[in-house]
Amino acid sequence: TYEIIIMLILAYLLGSIPSGVWIGKLFFRIDIRRHGSGNIGTTNTYRVLGPIAGTIVMIMDISKGVVATLLPTFFGNHTITPLVFGLMAILGHTFSIFDKFKGGKAVAVSAGMLLAYQPVLFIIAISMWLFLIFISSTVSFASIVAFILITIIIFFTHDILLSILASVLTIFIIYRHWENVIRMLHGTENNVSFGLYYWL
Ligand code: G3P
Repeated sequence: TYEIIIMLILAYLLGSIPSGVWIGKLFFRIDIRRHGSGNIGTTNTYRVLGPIAGTIVMIMDISKGVVATLLPTFFGNHTITPLVFGLMAILGHTFSIFDKFKGGKAVAVSAGMLLAYQPVLFIIAISMWLFLIFISSTVSFASIVAFILITIIIFFTHDILLSILASVLTIFIIYRHWENVIRMLHGTENNVSFGLYYWL
């Protein structure tokens, strides 16, 4: 129906909003795509513009996933699974109409989808992610490993659709982090000044 098409487009447009780029340009006159890792996400915003801007971008990117996944609830239309709308936001975030179909690495927006769909799993995922950052000071490493671990946990919930989506997303996220993986292998990956490594 028309309503579903409108919801799909809305979810994609919502996901497309390049929060990091806009926040950087609006408040700092800095294009974060030209600094640090060049990524538009929370980590690079934190790295280039500081913790407040990083936190705002994280909240915005998570919210995109949350709102998109809740669209069926807002519209009172539950013909298809909300995960489809979360996925549209993820596609928007990574292939953004506002950024020449480029975009981020899909971590925060996927987390937002999980928050709207299964809040408990979100809390588990974010706790593992923070712990992994704490022990490694490397966000890309934490993102990849947290994704793999939460996908394994999701399999135990017997939610087949979510399990398939999480598996596909894990592969996709590793692919989007390929440059990070190469840097990790060379021992040149960017660290954040957070965690054991910095405090000891
Ligand atoms: O969410 C992206 C993060 O995992 C890595 O970001 O900027 O270090 O490539 P970055």
